[in-house]
Amino acid sequence: MKTLFVGQNSIHVESVGSTNSYATEMMRQIELSEGSVIYSFSQLNGRGQRGNFWESEPNKNMALSIVLYPRFLSVDKQFLLTKMTSLAVSDLMAEILQDYNKSANVSIKWPNDIYVNDKKIAGILIENTLKETSIQSAVIGIGINVNQKEFNSTKGAVSLITLVELEFDLQNVLERLCEFFEARYLQLKSNKLERIDKAYLDRLYRIGTWADYRDEQGVFQGRITGVSTKGKLQLELKSGELKSFSLKEIGFI
Ligand code: BTN
Repeated sequence: MKTLFVGQNSIHVESVGSTNSYATEMMRQIELSEGSVIYSFSQLNGRGQRGNFWESEPNKNMALSIVLYPRFLSVDKQFLLTKMTSLAVSDLMAEILQDYNKSANVSIKWPNDIYVNDKKIAGILIENTLKETSIQSAVIGIGINVNQKEFNSTKGAVSLITLVELEFDLQNVLERLCEFFEARYLQLKSNKLERIDKAYLDRLYRIGTWADYRDEQGVFQGRITGVSTKGKLQLELKSGELKSFSLKEIGFI
């Protein structure tokens, strides 16, 4: 692996409930070095955002958790981890599609779903342990749809194999992801925040275009203008009013 630390200690689990849970449990027992990766191609009980189940057919997809100790980050800046992880995963998706001359559009659907055109190809679940005002440790969970052809999900999922019509070597996808991840994490560590913020907004799904959303009051039209430091989605309404929403407060239609 062409990395300094991400994936240098990698632990392959043949079959697992959830790599995030497995990593968290391991961290209770032993000190895992920064950048340690726990991965499995057969994750049977993957956890998604908001308590959802992450669907993954055994031996078809990649599930991994990366252990970090971002103690340089204060709690109120934790959304930067979401940004850099989304960028790393979308960097890899964009590179793979480019390798095969596929002109599909890779984007980040706020806060951290990776989309190709209008379908989800990868999901991210970050679990932080906080200590006072800083982040003690983080488990960065990433699931990528690689060689799975059909999905039960009604929400619209897509995989690399359906886009490129070729089966991928999962180990190779893992190694490339570790490289992109390390590059983005080093960017964050060296405080290249403007670069991260700009790249995230450049990739943000639906930015600047009018579309329908739902909040507790009903359906409305809005236009994404940005994301706050704390990770709230900022929208302009037709009335000209600017509003920001947390994850539970808004749905995309
Ligand atoms: C989502 O989009 O809802 C997030 C999905 C996150 C899935 C990954 S797969 C590896 C890691 N282990 C888990 O149990 N979940 C994350």
